[in-house]
Parts: sequence; C-alpha cells; structure tokens
Amino acid sequence: MTRRPTPAKLAPLGVFDSGVGGLTVLSALKSRLPHEDFIYLGDTARVPYGSKPLEMVRDFALEISSSLIALGVKGIVIACNTASAASLPALADELPVPVWGVIEPGVQAALRAAPGGRVGVLGTVGTIHTGAYQRGLSAGGCAVWTKPCPLFVPIVEEGVSDTVIAKLVAEHYLGDAPPLDAVILGCTHYPALEPILTEVLGEALLIDSAEATAERVATELTGLGLATKRGTPGTVRHLVTGDVASYRHTAKLLGGPDGSVSRTELGRAAHPTPHSAALERL
Ligand code: DGL
Repeated sequence: MTRRPTPAKLAPLGVFDSGVGGLTVLSALKSRLPHEDFIYLGDTARVPYGSKPLEMVRDFALEISSSLIALGVKGIVIACNTASAASLPALADELPVPVWGVIEPGVQAALRAAPGGRVGVLGTVGTIHTGAYQRGLSAGGCAVWTKPCPLFVPIVEEGVSDTVIAKLVAEHYLGDAPPLDAVILGCTHYPALEPILTEVLGEALLIDSAEATAERVATELTGLGLATKRGTPGTVRHLVTGDVASYRHTAKLLGGPDGSVSRTELGRAAHPTPHSAALERL
C-alpha cells in the first residue's frame, strides 16, 4: 500500500525558544488556535541566547528549524526575540515553510497602545544590540528608551521570578528609567516577571508580544489555507535539548507543560534519545 503524505493542514506548528520563555507565546497560540497541534522545542542545553554572538544564535535557529521541519511541521514560530532579531529574514528565505517572529507584532502592539509616545524596550543584550525594536518604534514616531536586562533570563529559568532576588535585579536595571507610557517586554521570558516589573515601573503599560504574534499567525495560517479544519482539541509535544526534570519544574511555574516532554538531540529531533523515557519518569 502506498503511504500518503500527511496533509499539510493536519501537520503541527513548530515553536521554539532558548528555554521556557517561549511557553508564554505557546500559551497565546493555543488560545487563538485551539485545534492545532504544536511541537515546542526549548534549547535548554544552550540557554541563554541573549549574551551569545548573533551569528551563533542564527546557526542555532537554523539547526532547530531544520529539526522541526524533519518532524513535519507546517510552519515555525520563533518564540524568542533574540533569535527573531538574529535570524528572521534568513530563516524566511531558506525554509520551505512560513516563519513568524515576535518583534514586528510587538512593535505594532506598542504603536497601537502608545502612539507617538515614550516607549521603553527591555530585552537581551543581543536583541537590543540589533536595534530591531528601535527602528520600528522610531519609524512609527515614538521616543525610545532601551535597557538590556541579561540577568532576567536565568532568574526565570531558575524559577525564582517571584522572589526578592528578582525584585532587586529589576530595581538595579530599571531604577533609573525615565517616565514611560509603555514598556515592551522584548524577551519572551519577561512576562514571567510581570508583577515585579509592574511594581518597579509604576504607571507604564507593559506590552507582551505573545497575543499580537498569535493573532498574526492565526490570520496568516488561515490566509495560506494551512489552518486545520479538525474540530478536536490540539496536542502539544515538548522537546528539550537539556534536562527534562528541570524543564518540567520551571515550565510548571509558567502554567505548563501540557503534554509529553522528552529530551532530543538536534538533527535527531524525530528520535528522542534513549534516556528520554527514563528521564521523563523522574
Ligand atoms: N526568550 C528569549 C528572547 O525572547 C531568549 C532569551 C535568552 O535565551 O537569552 O530573547
């Protein structure tokens, strides 16, 4: 019997980040696209991306995307600002499936929320260094203030985002912030720090690009004729390059993980490592 290829509409969407941060985007995608299947890849063995050279991050993004394509995804969401800033045009050119990043939707959300206003951008060193947010916001008529906050990612990955440690670090980075109308959380890990950032930043409206990204993916997926027509709830499969137990622990603090979790070696993403099943039982 000839095996028919899986119809593209039923294929999963791939979503990736350096670690757990992209779960904030996955959650918005699941709400907006409840019938789609997702494969979430957290590159936890190599987190953080934000302090690494951008060419290195671009190579990671390409390697992960190739692994996701080998698993049959119909599109890829780069749920990471650093990887979006470093690799989006290159990935969109090279990959045979549609690719979405988180920066442009974040810029548009800020322009809607604070037109012509004073907008702050918090992000990794890599993201701020590319100037991607600054260009979009300045072109839209906003005054821009930026702040790289490299310690925020390890704080979230360690699961201590609601502690005094996080508060002290937030005060260290943001104590000298000028008055701002809106602040973009320009790293997908940062929404986990939202209560503390609200305390420290006062009045400024916090902008998380997750919902704007999910909205754009949903609209374009439908426009491309790639949205599933199936009426049953979708599933999520999580793959991590690092330790399964610590991923589970941190993901739980962000409301997940909501599906199977296994360890993978990139390039062999279709075949979880022999230790995955044992690790998953931990
Ligand atoms: N969550 C990612 C971002 O949005 C990655 C942060 C990191 O790994 O440094 O930039």
